[in-house]
Amino acid sequence: MSDDVLNQFTPPNEETSHDDGRILNFAIIGTGWIAESYIQCIKALPNIKVVAAADLIPGKAEKFFKKFGVDGVRLYPDHKALLEAENELDAVCVCTYNVQHASCAIDSLNKGLNVLLEKPMTVTIEEAAEVLRAEKKSGKILSIGFQPRMDENMKMIKKIVDSGELGKIYYIQTGGGRRRGIPNSTFIEKKTAGIGAIGDIGCYALDVVLNAIGYPKPLTATGYTSNFFGTSPIYNNPADAARFDVDDFAAGFVRLEGGIILDFRISWAMNMDTSGDTLILGTEGGLRIPSTECWNGNAGGPLKIYRETAGAQVEYEIPMFPLDDSFGGLFTKKIKSFADAIKSNGEAPVPASQIFLNQAIIDGIVKSAAVGHEIEIILPEI
Ligand SMILES: NC(=O)c1ccc[n+]([C@@H]2O[C@H](COP(=O)([O-])OP(=O)(O)OC[C@H]3O[C@@H](n4cnc5c(N)ncnc54)[C@H](O)[C@@H]3O)[C@@H](O)[C@H]2O)c1
Repeated sequence: MSDDVLNQFTPPNEETSHDDGRILNFAIIGTGWIAESYIQCIKALPNIKVVAAADLIPGKAEKFFKKFGVDGVRLYPDHKALLEAENELDAVCVCTYNVQHASCAIDSLNKGLNVLLEKPMTVTIEEAAEVLRAEKKSGKILSIGFQPRMDENMKMIKKIVDSGELGKIYYIQTGGGRRRGIPNSTFIEKKTAGIGAIGDIGCYALDVVLNAIGYPKPLTATGYTSNFFGTSPIYNNPADAARFDVDDFAAGFVRLEGGIILDFRISWAMNMDTSGDTLILGTEGGLRIPSTECWNGNAGGPLKIYRETAGAQVEYEIPMFPLDDSFGGLFTKKIKSFADAIKSNGEAPVPASQIFLNQAIIDGIVKSAAVGHEIEIILPEI
């Protein structure tokens, strides 16, 4: 195929918008770091208005809306007070640290609201099951905040697998991670984050491949977690090292339904540039997804397929779609697709029923690491 032909390879047009002009009333629960991306993206979306917000830290929400020049937002000291007082909301964005995800999502669904819940879905599988039960009872839309799903390259990975080009998938290596990239603030303590790198960026690494292969159920996990870097005053800021009690590295060997093996590793810090590319091996072909340095869920490029054609071993590249790096590109799409789903009474863009299985793997790896041997993953009934 000539370069001229390849150069014509352009991203598909924007997906159809379900915009009927109605303005949706949103609330933000937790006005911390990630909420900053929410408010900036929502300000650019004409049919969403943030009318209410809550934060546990006195004065934080006031400062937050002042900083972004947004007036008239009704403020509350916590999510329960907000849900009790507000009666005209369409949706909430749960932007709290991880340990508060379940209660904020469940209380909001029980109030009859649509929920966009930040990743990771929860800390444990038991919490994730409770969130799913609340979603089922409410009949509302619950979408999980995985913006990499909005990336055309991620969609292409799924299209390649769905096309049958790789044949039957039997082995997947996924993960990656950072050489040095430990976050701070509320990410590094169990009392707020619950889990570390495995939840923060591990959930993305799992989603790239599990979404591509249709989220088969996980059956068993052998897991390992450690935190040699986060707890070290040599590698981490001493004050952060002293309070660091989550994982900064995790690895797992997971058996999935359909005879598929998932070999996974993720790191916030390690003495290596990468723990490897993502590889999907099938009976007809293999797909290599190069790792990226930062590991924030984006696929590195170019994607490469390895096959045998007429007895010859061939390799070819799949041209990458340019990453949408406009301000809030993928992030805006994640919020807009959620709003569109509300307006069209459609499916959640990133269904919680899928991410429940992502959480089951994280939970299985954490629990196996704690007991030091392989465990069976038993999915709670929903
Ligand atoms: N999608 C992404 O790209 C992305 C990026 C960064 C963080 N995150 C996720 O966003 C979440 C928040 O991260 P952050 O860095 O903004 O945390 P943060 O600590 O900066 O902010 C969280 C805020 O939530 C508030 N809060 C907690 N429980 C509350 C409750 N019940 N009611 C009201 N307020 C409550 C806290 O007081 C805090 O101000 C995490 O789960 C993280 O994994 C996602």
